[in-house]
Amino acid sequence: MASTSPLAAILLVTLIQCLFFLVIPQAEAQSAPAPESSPVNLTAILVKGGQYTSFIRLLQSTQVMTQIENQLNNSNGQGLTVFAPTDNAFNNLKSGTINSLSQQDQVELALYHVLPKYYSFSDLQSVSNPVRTQGSSQNGGVDNLNFTSGNNQVNVTSGVVTTAVNNPLREQSPLSVYEVDKVLLPTSLFGVPAAAPAPNAAIASNTSTPSVSSGGEPVASPDSKSSSSGRNVGLGLVAGIGLACMGVLLQ
Ligand SMILES: *[C@@H]1O[C@H](CO)[C@@H](O)[C@H](O)[C@H]1NC(C)=O
Ligand SMILES: *[C@@H]1O[C@H](CO)[C@@H](O)[C@H](O)[C@H]1NC(C)=O
Ligand SMILES: *[C@@H]1O[C@H](CO)[C@@H](O)[C@H](O)[C@H]1NC(C)=O
Ligand SMILES: *[C@@H]1O[C@H](CO)[C@@H](O)[C@H](O)[C@H]1NC(C)=O
Ligand SMILES: *[C@@H]1O[C@H](CO)[C@@H](O)[C@H](O)[C@H]1NC(C)=O
Repeated sequence: MASTSPLAAILLVTLIQCLFFLVIPQAEAQSAPAPESSPVNLTAILVKGGQYTSFIRLLQSTQVMTQIENQLNNSNGQGLTVFAPTDNAFNNLKSGTINSLSQQDQVELALYHVLPKYYSFSDLQSVSNPVRTQGSSQNGGVDNLNFTSGNNQVNVTSGVVTTAVNNPLREQSPLSVYEVDKVLLPTSLFGVPAAAPAPNAAIASNTSTPSVSSGGEPVASPDSKSSSSGRNVGLGLVAGIGLACMGVLLQ
């Protein structure tokens, strides 16, 4: 008995893996987006929503609307997700909040409401934080959003504001559009000044030693080395199991 159970366990694991290999491609095929005849018109979606005049104006004055519609028209893309603040959300901002921003910062604010990937509501419930937006701060850093979920509800936070992700105006690849009750204010524009940057920040610093060491490439820390080799082992294991599956299937 005791000697057969490890073998049984291995067989069971292999069988389960094989089922995954057989089932997953079918599931993916089913959820493949149907080709859309005409380009998605975000303006029309927001106009139809009836309470997004300010957001439409922001997207248009910054040219972000055109940018989005061009991206959606590119069938190779991963789609987009847009968080649309209501007119109420804009009205609740301190007066002058938007107008006092430079044109460049208004572009950043608009892009911060766009994720470079299509997320269904259930995708948002399980997304891993932080999630990159289309926006990036002036020093080149990406502005992220974080999502928390529970009770079939999703909250989004910028670090400055937190609000619920409400009803989708549209939830179909390649574009999802969700109503939000607050304008998502990025930390890079509205946050308290960040603490002193870490000495190894990606941004070039003149204060550190100027010499480019002979190797040229930055030396990876032992941590990153070991974690990447850990991933390699994991991939090897998956590949091995996959081969075992093929063996089983071929017999
Ligand atoms: C998109 O919809 C808006 C508002 O309904 C309309 O004015 C515009 O012409 C449409 N654009 C395209 C490319 O169909
Ligand atoms: C979308 O792409 C088609 C073909 O590539 C082009 O004819 C059309 O003008 C594009 N529409 C927009 C809104 O960019
Ligand atoms: C979302 O935010 C509301 C209000 O801040 C809070 O009551 C709720 O627990 C949050 N829900 C999740 C899933 O984070
Ligand atoms: C977002 O999540 C990341 C990782 O969990 C965390 O490091 C970061 O501080 C969070 N940012 C905000 C604004 O909540
Ligand atoms: C680094 O120093 C040089 C010369 O002092 C200066 O021209 C350059 O703008 C500096 N770069 C940064 C990123 O501070």
